[in-house]
Amino acid sequence: MLRRLLLSMSRSERIRHLVETAPVSRSVVARFVAGVSAEEAVAATRELVEAGLLVSLDRLGEDTLDLRQATDTRDAYLRMLQLLGDEGLTSGAEVSVKLSAVGQALPGDGEKVALENAQAICAAARAAGTTVTLDMEDHTTTDSTLAILGKLRADFPETGAVLQAYLHRTEADCRDLAHAGSRVRLCKGAYKEPESVAFQGKPDVDKAYVRALKVLMGGEGYPMVATHDPRLVAITEDLARRLGRAPDSYEFQMLYGIRPNEQQRLASQGYQMRVYVPYGDEWYGYLVRRMAERPANLAFFLRSVATKG
Ligand code: FDA
Repeated sequence: MLRRLLLSMSRSERIRHLVETAPVSRSVVARFVAGVSAEEAVAATRELVEAGLLVSLDRLGEDTLDLRQATDTRDAYLRMLQLLGDEGLTSGAEVSVKLSAVGQALPGDGEKVALENAQAICAAARAAGTTVTLDMEDHTTTDSTLAILGKLRADFPETGAVLQAYLHRTEADCRDLAHAGSRVRLCKGAYKEPESVAFQGKPDVDKAYVRALKVLMGGEGYPMVATHDPRLVAITEDLARRLGRAPDSYEFQMLYGIRPNEQQRLASQGYQMRVYVPYGDEWYGYLVRRMAERPANLAFFLRSVATKG
């Protein structure tokens, strides 16, 4: 019911206009989205980097069903990488890319288009002195995304992957990807997935996260521990101590605007702490669809407005 309501909100232009112009929206959006323009996102990046945090920038937009839009998204990333390079920010900031935004879902040769666009972005990132991480979307795209990752890594082994702890397959995917030089972001997973492929309740997802985390932290790669969950942060710290992992051999990641004080605390304790920074004018669909995909996200965003802890 709530999901249907939110999804219909995401499609209604009238509600979009009302929400976009409501004063409360602006403060909520400003809390979670670093700005509409690339320049605003770069300014937010500079602030975070100067505060000792790392950044991964995400240009909002997904589910591109039009070749031109896929090319425009690629070009926007190329421009962002140029700006980051010009501003001297590439040692602290990388980019995150959704393959669906660069053409993966186009009928026919979508995977090829997405691969070519992602290759162009990886080449620009390398020239600017930074890296790309491929976000992970719903489970119907996992095989395709990992196949594209494999091809990209042939030329750009520094390209980061994302695995979602709620998927039954993820522990095995972690074993495949826990090799030297392999950057892997582990998150719980943000999409509504069926029981046939994913754990459903929070306790099961949390246990699956710990199993996957143990594989990544015990492996040879570079784990990127993406969670706001204090228990999982503490378990990561404990595992790192027990496994003798150096602080520069893994990192924590959290979303822009979520638990900013905790982000600062971890950075000031000498941990690498990367903030995922979305920007762009597609914020309405981003926020509303995130809430619709998983009602827990509604509470997640509302809680964030109430606390900075
Ligand atoms: P969860 O939402 O279960 O919260 C656990 C606990 O954390 C809470 O009980 C509370 O203690 C604390 N907490 C959480 N939110 C809080 C808040 N706002 N304020 C105070 N405390 C709070 N997903 C995906 O499918 N594909 C992807 O590519 C990515 N990428 C990604 C990158 C990064 C950097 C992050 C942090 C997350 C993603 N995600 C993602 C989203 C991810 O899958 C997940 O939906 C959210 O991170 C929420 O899960 P948590 O691990 O934070 O735990």
